[in-house]
Amino acid sequence: MEVKTAEFIISNTDWWKCPETDLPEYAFIGRSNVGKSSLINMLTNRKDLAKTSSKPGKTLLINHFLIDEKWYLVDLPGYGYATASKSMREKLKKIIESYILFRAQLTNLFVLIDCRHKPQQIDLEFMQWLGESGVPFSVVFTKKDKLSTAKFAENIESYKTQLSETWEELPPIFYTSSEKRIGKEELLGYINEINSTA
Ligand code: GTP
Ligand code: MG
Repeated sequence: MEVKTAEFIISNTDWWKCPETDLPEYAFIGRSNVGKSSLINMLTNRKDLAKTSSKPGKTLLINHFLIDEKWYLVDLPGYGYATASKSMREKLKKIIESYILFRAQLTNLFVLIDCRHKPQQIDLEFMQWLGESGVPFSVVFTKKDKLSTAKFAENIESYKTQLSETWEELPPIFYTSSEKRIGKEELLGYINEINSTA
């Protein structure tokens, strides 16, 4: 599946100011710098639709991108942005959490995890919170190009083992590299499947 049209619509700090439509939304969340915005560009075949940076803290608002005039990709600010001030971190946390909890159009949240790192408390706690809040989510391992095949497989296995300690059934899991354009078909196929059964 290929995206035909992708259009930036609006940036917001508050979920209730987001587009007034019934169209389904697929949002990307994860630690700052994990590759959320890059993944949106990869999925839409656009270089600079979502703004990216090598420095964490690039995306600070809720950004809506209309896809094929039928659904939205939503780029969110990252969490765990360590060098931000406490008030900034709290502001971002409020933006993210209220969008996730209250935005009825949110159909699936993709939680991005950098495949190079061992399971981090902040991500595990975040997923725990999603589960307790009844938010449907999937896991996306990013930056696959940064690891050898063997190391990648090892990290994913240990992550799955960690998740299995909390979750009886694992969420859907995707493997991506925006750099090498890996995982696009799988992610778009998954979104398409949900859209066509809704
Ligand atoms: P914030 O908006 O700050 O929360 O970050 P983000 O999660 O949107 O990350 P962003 O897409 O801006 O990417 C952060 C950095 O990682 C950039 O330098 C990207 O080029 C790089 N990056 C993202 N995805 C990949 C990938 O798949 N492979 C490699 N090698 N680098 C990547
Ligand atoms: Mg970003």
